[in-house]
Amino acid sequence: MTRRPLLAANWKMFKTVAQSVAYGRELIRRLETSAGLDAVDVLICPTSLSLWPLAQRVAGTAIRVGAQNLDLGSEGAMTGAVSGYLLREAGAEFVIVGHSERRQYFEEDDATVAKKVQAAIQAHLQPVLCVGETWQERQQDRTVEVIGRQVASALEGLGPEQASRVVVAYEPIWAIGTGSVPTPQDANQVATAIRRLMPPDIADATRILYGGSVSPKNIRDFACQSDIDGALVGGASLEAGTLMAMIELMVS
Ligand code: PGA
Repeated sequence: MTRRPLLAANWKMFKTVAQSVAYGRELIRRLETSAGLDAVDVLICPTSLSLWPLAQRVAGTAIRVGAQNLDLGSEGAMTGAVSGYLLREAGAEFVIVGHSERRQYFEEDDATVAKKVQAAIQAHLQPVLCVGETWQERQQDRTVEVIGRQVASALEGLGPEQASRVVVAYEPIWAIGTGSVPTPQDANQVATAIRRLMPPDIADATRILYGGSVSPKNIRDFACQSDIDGALVGGASLEAGTLMAMIELMVS
């Protein structure tokens, strides 16, 4: 089974609308002279405010746009909320769900994450489901147990067709924004464990990303692992030139 590699950029709470559009323009210019997009799917997840203008800017290219979060429901009296339906209409094709920052700062638990995965699928968005262990859990040798619980809960109740739309991102919490990373072999072992937890008829086709302090220095080591199909990148995705370098390292 060949899975198409995916490089996903998570901009978090960075970049104004103007900066997002300028980045889109620069990335298109750089990709014109690169073979990168023939071999790698590139996904940019800006703030919700920049979704529509960025999606407009990259329309007609192979660059995909996604959201970083969605709220439940579709339309309604829900002050401040942004649903999957509205994100989709604004140009998103993917949405990050269950990022550890959402779990930590917005108190999203496994049950909420599961509802958001379902809401994303209903809105015709592909969820990028983030799972990962704390440093303490890793020290206690509980990584696979913790991730198993997160994955099983998020996929519960999904049929095979729905589950086949999910991309999984393995992001050890202690590696996010810290410069510390697991060895690529370690990350691959967890990715293999995740694949075993997927419904058997879709396991082979599911894309599993590694995330946490990915940079041009290490992306190749992760992306060439047998069960890792790309990366979810935060800090190092904020410069178009650095993202471009990572795309090229993935295909080289
Ligand atoms: P980082 O973030 O690449 O800055 O570590 C990754 C993420 O949070 O998705």
